[in-house]
Amino acid sequence: MDKSLSVAELNSIFDAFRHFESSSARLQEKYMALKREVAMLREELRKKEEEIRRSEKMVALGETAAALAHEVRNPLGSIKLFVSLLKEELSGASEPLELVCEIEKGIDSLDRVVSNILGFAKDDASKKAPVLVNSIIKEIIGQFGEELKKRKIRIDFMPDGERMILANPESIRQVFRNLIQNSIQAIKEDGLISISTKFLCEPVSKVEIFLEDTGGGIPSHLLGRIFEPFVSGRKEGTGLGLAIVKKIIHQHGGEIEAVNSAKGAIFRVAFPCE
Ligand SMILES: Nc1ncnc2c1ncn2[C@@H]1O[C@H](COP(=O)(O)OP(=O)(O)O)[C@@H](O)[C@H]1O
Ligand SMILES: [Mg+2]
Repeated sequence: MDKSLSVAELNSIFDAFRHFESSSARLQEKYMALKREVAMLREELRKKEEEIRRSEKMVALGETAAALAHEVRNPLGSIKLFVSLLKEELSGASEPLELVCEIEKGIDSLDRVVSNILGFAKDDASKKAPVLVNSIIKEIIGQFGEELKKRKIRIDFMPDGERMILANPESIRQVFRNLIQNSIQAIKEDGLISISTKFLCEPVSKVEIFLEDTGGGIPSHLLGRIFEPFVSGRKEGTGLGLAIVKKIIHQHGGEIEAVNSAKGAIFRVAFPCE
């Protein structure tokens, strides 16, 4: 029997091979694409797990810090009282009095740390009332008056038309106090802080506040972490200021972000409007 194949049979075998080759190339491509996708998803999952671990650690750290702050607050109150009595006793004796004043400064600084930690642990977004944003910013700027004069820092406030938000007024004061305080600390001396407000109706009604300073900007290695508790670029900082700010803003359904400009930092805050 003749087993040789005809030209037509050979052609169809070659066709089948070509078809098989191109299908297998396409399959290989699909396989590689899927492999890339799996690698990307795996990386995403790893990042999310890391985020969860970090936030769990932060919660535990926050709770420990709050418990510690509670323990410190009472003896600190007594020390404060005794130091003020000692100060009275020492009136007239200038050298020992100077030493006591130094102790008092140390106590005040500890007191601020403790209040910050307790403030961070507190949840008071439920005590909401109508708040006029521009008026509150003006009030806080006024409170920094002396310090601004001393450090030759100017604040330019450019408010849009006044609007109301539903918020805890004391918390909103704290947000702007902390942000302005940070700008002043970054500038140190001789500079400008520009604050402006803007109202947006679309797609949702909200008020945006921009704080821009000439303090040289947020150190680049901290830029992604400044809203985490206990992250500070200052020797005497607690790293709680912006963590409190972010927490308050989120409790009020708002947003905050920070970027650097050529001259300093820019913070954008947004609150939903009534
Ligand atoms: N306006 C700003 N300009 C430059 N750096 C800033 C500014 N605001 C915050 N930062 C940086 O972010 C860090 C964290 O700020 P914050 O949470 O208020 O803590 P603290 O002031 O106690 O350090 C600061 O130490 C500083 O390095
Ligand atoms: Mg601060």
